[in-house]
Amino acid sequence: MRWYNGHFVLLAILNYVIKITMRVCSIIGYKGESLAAPLLVTCLQKMEYRGYDSVGIATIADGKVSVKKGVGRVEDVNSSLLLGRLPGRIGIGHTRWATHGKVTEKNAHPHTSCNGEIAVVHNGIIQNYSELKSGLLMKGHIFKSETDSEVIAHLLEEDYVHTGDLRVAMRNTSKKLAGAFSFIAAFSDGTIAGARYDEPLILGISNDGYYISSDVVGFLNYTDRAIFLDNRDIVILQGSEMEMINFDGAPVLRPTTQVAWEFGGIDKGTYAHFTIKEINEQVETITKSGRGQEKSIKQVSEVLKSAPFVYFTGSGTSYHCALVAKNLLTKYGKRKSDAIMSSEFQYLVNDIEPDSVIVAISQSGETADVLEVVKKAKPLGTKIISIVNVPTSSLARLSDVSVHMNCGAEIGVAATKSFTSQLTLLYAIIDEMSGGLIGLEEQRYKLQNAVRELIEGQSMIEHIVDEIKDVKDIYVLGRSIHYPIALEGALKIKELSYVHAEGIPAGELKHGPLALIDRNSCILVLNPNDSTFEDVNANAHEIKARGASLIGVGNSPSDVYDQFITIPEVDEILYPLLEVIPFQLIAYYLALVKNANPDYPRNLAKSVTVK
Ligand code: M6R
Repeated sequence: MRWYNGHFVLLAILNYVIKITMRVCSIIGYKGESLAAPLLVTCLQKMEYRGYDSVGIATIADGKVSVKKGVGRVEDVNSSLLLGRLPGRIGIGHTRWATHGKVTEKNAHPHTSCNGEIAVVHNGIIQNYSELKSGLLMKGHIFKSETDSEVIAHLLEEDYVHTGDLRVAMRNTSKKLAGAFSFIAAFSDGTIAGARYDEPLILGISNDGYYISSDVVGFLNYTDRAIFLDNRDIVILQGSEMEMINFDGAPVLRPTTQVAWEFGGIDKGTYAHFTIKEINEQVETITKSGRGQEKSIKQVSEVLKSAPFVYFTGSGTSYHCALVAKNLLTKYGKRKSDAIMSSEFQYLVNDIEPDSVIVAISQSGETADVLEVVKKAKPLGTKIISIVNVPTSSLARLSDVSVHMNCGAEIGVAATKSFTSQLTLLYAIIDEMSGGLIGLEEQRYKLQNAVRELIEGQSMIEHIVDEIKDVKDIYVLGRSIHYPIALEGALKIKELSYVHAEGIPAGELKHGPLALIDRNSCILVLNPNDSTFEDVNANAHEIKARGASLIGVGNSPSDVYDQFITIPEVDEILYPLLEVIPFQLIAYYLALVKNANPDYPRNLAKSVTVK
């Protein structure tokens, strides 16, 4: 296949083809008529939301491989090392999120072979790297980094030197690697080749050349024509030719997909950060969630109705949604259920009744812990339902029925709008099961106004943040359906502002945590007007008696609280959808006060694809 030959099979699958929020490292390659380095810098910046700690680029010019890399943000490393000035029209780039080896310039990608003629960027984990490294060391290879990825450069060199055939080198190397990986290699003769296994790799076809990337967002500024490589595919760009083979050398043909341009333009608009933009978007996303999904919602509700036992599972924020769902299913769906975090469930799942149903909740659909549960449960015959924001994700593909959150790309590492969207979907499913007992549809409009009102009350939140900015520990209390929101509120605060925060079931206070409370403590209390009101109010008084500062969240302000955040009136069962918003805002503004970047919390990645 040559460039511009027009042999493209344009599929009419648009928006949802894109995996928006994925892996921890980003890889990109370019070969074409333009200067590669400045393009690669832009492509890497487009993928910054995935989280990273170091960056690097290698280009090929006049048969020579040049590499520049460093620790820090793309913009800073580019200003100090002038990455974008590397010569040549062929190159590869990488942003690294450290797994094997510290965050250092040496461990940053690209990694090169001993002879310096091959440079490699890699995303994923090579499980058997120490075994491969020992073999390569015995053959005299010298390693410059502590990473698992560097073995790829030396393996390629080993095979290339012996066979003189880079196709064979790509195939042999790919077959030797165990684990999940996608990598791109640049050879000094000007060839670029990429291979994938269980990590995404996408070829972008533009009018002036080819891109290879771990994320379609990486090249969407330049082209909307893409080929999604499958597992065991290798793509080779040599001269002006593009060729695809599998790990056994057989030719493969994959369809060209036209992807949606709007994702290329993902930016913050007039907002200072993606996180605050996404918090604000909830006015629309909560209203939209579940719309157009009526058929799958009905289907899921039928599956749940006939399930003897339902397990809700997820990680982090998605697990908190699972906890709310369990509460709703017991109350309105009248089914037996449990909510178990995926990182724990994977050790139990082999022992569940095979006719149970698992509802796996995941924004990205790529979280390793969730996938592990599903992969273990499927062979037992367990039905898998998923709630995802990326319909092409691994989780969606593994599920019997998958429902789409439809809240648009979530770039901020902290889940905000995806939480309220997944929660709304679960309300819709359980409402359908119960024959409309929750009455979600009738309340959508009210809900939307309530979300707007909460978001417009940001000045009150900023005032509270100013009061609590120096506290060292924050406790968030709630009972019943509000306890998961206490957990979620605390999670938002700790990940965005780095302040220690803990969600505690208010009824457990006297069983231990009360020992921690004194005049220096700051407690946020979910105290809405429902069946939990009196008990939580009593807890608030117990805390007050110990001199702690108290912030109430609910609908009935009372003297016990030093500050009170009023939740607009909606049916009480819908409170969790609203209560979480003040916590998202508090976490965001606390991060700003503490000079932390709310979009990219330290040590965290948008999607955790390794266990
Ligand atoms: O993509 P997922 O919903 O599966 O992600 C699960 C967690 O990793 C995620 O919710 C994480 O806890 C967020 N950083 C929370 O803000």
